[in-house]
Amino acid sequence: MTEDPQDAIDEQAGRTRDRDPRVYDHTAGDEQEGIPFVGAGPGDPGLLTVTGKRLCEAADLVVHAGSLVNSELLDEFCSHAEQVNSIGKDLEELVPLMRDAYEAGDTVVRLHSGDPAIYGAALEQMDALEHEGVPTYFVPGVTSAFAASATLRTQLTLNEVANHVAFTRPQGKTLTAEEDHIGEFVGMGDVTTCIYLGTHAVRDTMDRLLADGHDPETPVAVVYHASWPDEDVIEGTIGTIADQVEEAGYRASAMVIIGEAATGSGYERSYLYGDWANRGQSEADD
Ligand SMILES: C[S@@+](CC[C@H](N)C(=O)[O-])C[C@H]1O[C@@H](n2cnc3c(N)ncnc32)[C@H](O)[C@@H]1O
Repeated sequence: MTEDPQDAIDEQAGRTRDRDPRVYDHTAGDEQEGIPFVGAGPGDPGLLTVTGKRLCEAADLVVHAGSLVNSELLDEFCSHAEQVNSIGKDLEELVPLMRDAYEAGDTVVRLHSGDPAIYGAALEQMDALEHEGVPTYFVPGVTSAFAASATLRTQLTLNEVANHVAFTRPQGKTLTAEEDHIGEFVGMGDVTTCIYLGTHAVRDTMDRLLADGHDPETPVAVVYHASWPDEDVIEGTIGTIADQVEEAGYRASAMVIIGEAATGSGYERSYLYGDWANRGQSEADD
């Protein structure tokens, strides 16, 4: 009998902090029993992990995140498998689909874009499947902020420029205005703010930053489809980027990076490769 996936979500809210013993029995990257929730990476099939590729190649059913997963990757590693696009399907449809295939003896892979731990809504599917007796586990992937920083040939943390990174999203259907912390991250000065799910809202976001008195010259880079063949980079500032993105016509699938680190400039030599490295210190920054 199909259970209500909402029950699994409600149940975990009352769970104690006792850890699932599998947490101690496996390392991330181990192949385990059950359905793996695999990070497909940002787009380029070459950025799928070796474990992810092996799992995709062995799958009978691949449930993937639609247009966020590059069709080249599906063609290259999943062409032998039945492929189902999860976009537009709710938990009530997805969970029995994966459970029935798994129980029928099929090898099932759930493919999320980037890393499933970032704005992936993976855990609710995993808990609902576990509730129905189907084990699940994560296989990490390259999140799009990392692909975007590679495209920009920069670091998200940069000595004397940015000591912190925020992965965030703008207010909208999911976040209220009070839960939108972009202005606070930018105001901290040494944070690189990586905005997911915010391409359509670049103007609103920049307008709010300007209204709050943030420096209009603060660098902003927008990387559309990082690592895809049609990847595009737009570089501007809080004051200019909205016009530039609108002119390019992007409404989705871009990473918005605010902060000096996006330019890859202004940094100082680090301790790691400085004189300090030769002084026999026992602790090293990594
Ligand atoms: C639902 S979230 C999923 C994020 C994904 N789990 C990850 O780790 O990258 C989708 C958002 O991720 C960003 N994104 C995903 N793939 C991207 C790419 N190749 N280039 C730039 N941004 C991307 C966009 O901001 C998009 O709106």
